[in-house]
Amino acid sequence: MIGVHERTTSAKVDHDASGLFDLSGRVALVTGGTRGLGLAIARAFSSAGADVVVASRKEDACRDVAAKLRAAGGRAVGHACHVGRWDDLERLVDAAYGEFGRVDVLVNNAGVSPLYPTLAGVSEELFDKVIAVNLKGPFRLSALVGERMVAGDGGSIINISSTGAVRPTGDIVPYSAAKAGLNALTVGFADALGPKVRVNAIMPGPFLTTIAESWDMDMLAERTRTYPLRRAGLAAEIVGAALYLAGDASSYTTGSILTVDGGAQWSMPTSGDAR
Ligand SMILES: NC(=O)c1ccc[n+]([C@@H]2O[C@H](COP(=O)([O-])OP(=O)(O)OC[C@H]3O[C@@H](n4cnc5c(N)ncnc54)[C@H](OP(=O)(O)O)[C@@H]3O)[C@@H](O)[C@H]2O)c1
Repeated sequence: MIGVHERTTSAKVDHDASGLFDLSGRVALVTGGTRGLGLAIARAFSSAGADVVVASRKEDACRDVAAKLRAAGGRAVGHACHVGRWDDLERLVDAAYGEFGRVDVLVNNAGVSPLYPTLAGVSEELFDKVIAVNLKGPFRLSALVGERMVAGDGGSIINISSTGAVRPTGDIVPYSAAKAGLNALTVGFADALGPKVRVNAIMPGPFLTTIAESWDMDMLAERTRTYPLRRAGLAAEIVGAALYLAGDASSYTTGSILTVDGGAQWSMPTSGDAR
């Protein structure tokens, strides 16, 4: 069966670009939607017309964000969920479908990158947590929601990876491995859930969110000095990529991993000095 959004897409692409980023009538589920990149995405999706389910571990924070989205004119609910726990994820999916009857866009955004003293100092608990939140949770949630999307009108799944997946450094080894796994998962799910469901990833470089509060800002300034854009990103600057991948604008994009890193991948040691 061809879903309502698929029919809408072909008409708009041919004659009218105005609706390519419109999410009216769609339901988006955003994990880690209470702070940082996830909050920016939840707000943007709501302002683009989507009904939003905000999930993170803290019930109060989820409810608070949902209340603010409603106050701004949107429809939203908050639901507490630890994405590393499969029981929590099943309850989250039941709550989302119970509230809105569908999920059209899933954003696997919740992630953690804890500091560790040395590689030998990485505890089994820390390693397992990093894998659970960044990789295991997105796998399970994509499976649960993706199969329902396939059985329904289709949809879009967006995984928030990291440039650490392809440029790992010694201070983020377990995290980089988990995000590299998330990139692989993106391609595998794109294959498994197509053609009705598109699955893509965004690979952010450094963004100034709460994750960045533990960073050495002098080191960050030194590092970003050679990026083509010479700085770290702001949370609002993830929104364009997320809107693109969520809506009809990306109707022929799946299995893609979109880098949003201020050009860090092309960073030249001499760039900051030369200009
Ligand atoms: N900021 C960067 O520089 C950067 C760079 C590359 C990739 N990323 C990725 O972008 C995503 C968002 O990062 P951010 O910088 O926005 O992080 P953030 O500001 O620390 O926010 C993390 C969000 O995830 C939630 N969360 C954490 N653990 C969770 C869990 N176990 N279950 C459910 N929710 C959980 C947090 O809420 P609760 O505490 O209430 O659970 C919060 O809403 C992550 O996947 C991160 O790896 C970030």
